[in-house]
Amino acid sequence: MRVLSGIQPSGKLHLGNYFGMMKPALELQKDGEAFLFIANYHALTTVDDAGALRAATHDVALDFLACGLDTDRTVFFRQSDVPAVTELTWLLSTVTPMGLLERCHSYKDKLAKGIAPSHALFAYPVLMAADILAYQSNVVPVGRDQKQHVEVTRDIAIKFNMKAGRDVFTIPEPCIRDSVAVVPGIDGQKMSKSYNNHIELFGGEKDIRARIMRVVTDSTPLEDPKDPEKCSVFALYRLVASENQVREMRGKYLAGGYGYGSAKKELFEAVWSYFEPFRKRREELSRDPGHVESVLERGAQRAREEAGRTLKSARSALGLE
Ligand code: ADP
Ligand code: TRP
Repeated sequence: MRVLSGIQPSGKLHLGNYFGMMKPALELQKDGEAFLFIANYHALTTVDDAGALRAATHDVALDFLACGLDTDRTVFFRQSDVPAVTELTWLLSTVTPMGLLERCHSYKDKLAKGIAPSHALFAYPVLMAADILAYQSNVVPVGRDQKQHVEVTRDIAIKFNMKAGRDVFTIPEPCIRDSVAVVPGIDGQKMSKSYNNHIELFGGEKDIRARIMRVVTDSTPLEDPKDPEKCSVFALYRLVASENQVREMRGKYLAGGYGYGSAKKELFEAVWSYFEPFRKRREELSRDPGHVESVLERGAQRAREEAGRTLKSARSALGLE
């Protein structure tokens, strides 16, 4: 089974990214060969400063390695080190109906957030399809917001295979964990860096504490029982605390006499200690930028071999060779 996922280097990673995509992808490393990449071609649709893109790409690489990416099992690389995906994007776009792209929510959502409409922003799902199909991926772990893009990829692959009269591409499946499909932000909406409601994975202690203390809750008085299932503090706590701790906090919510302020303090402690080992590892890794670079180069080589094979087969199916 081949697992593949990517993440854009368009800002600091947060708890939503970690629990929605990174953790499931890192856990799937055990079940087969994984391909994970930093989607810097995709990030060009929103990041227009070259230095910022370079720095964010390095940061995301550090984040993944710190969080447990196993470089023996996982091919880890920068998207732009495999230019074959851009050629494959063109080949796929010739079988992609406009209507399929016009239905994608993420394009409309991004325009609504004020991002300039460019051809790249509109065609983004075709590049994502090329990412997935180039490596013959079976399973794509992503948060719920990316599900539609994996469905678009499936449609494109099925159309292409029909046209070719053979299976040029493996048909991928999205892998979405219901429990973490949407991690709430501090305002209760989906956590996202573009809503500035996020809690950074490797943010400073003060910032993380301050953001957690701002998590929006309802106005149930301190003495009254509270519904844990309707509370973002509890939803976040569940992600980082042990089963026992979760059971205890649920009991306190239901019993009453327990305020949201206390729950937030416990949430902060749990978040901080959950990421403690990753923070240490990240600090060590950051002292050796050469190591990060060599991991990415090794990954790129392996990824180029695989993508090159798929591209050759797709070119031949279309009569280019
Ligand atoms: P952002 O919304 O902060 O820009 P991205 O769109 O770059 O995040 O998402 C990168 C990956 O993390 C995707 O697989 C996405 O589904 C996942 N993800 C992002 N935010 C969340 C969230 N709040 N809950 C679950 N998964 C998320
Ligand atoms: N579009 C994804 C996001 O914004 C990133 C991405 C690019 C991706 N190519 C991919 C994710 C291929 C999974 C598979 O989060």
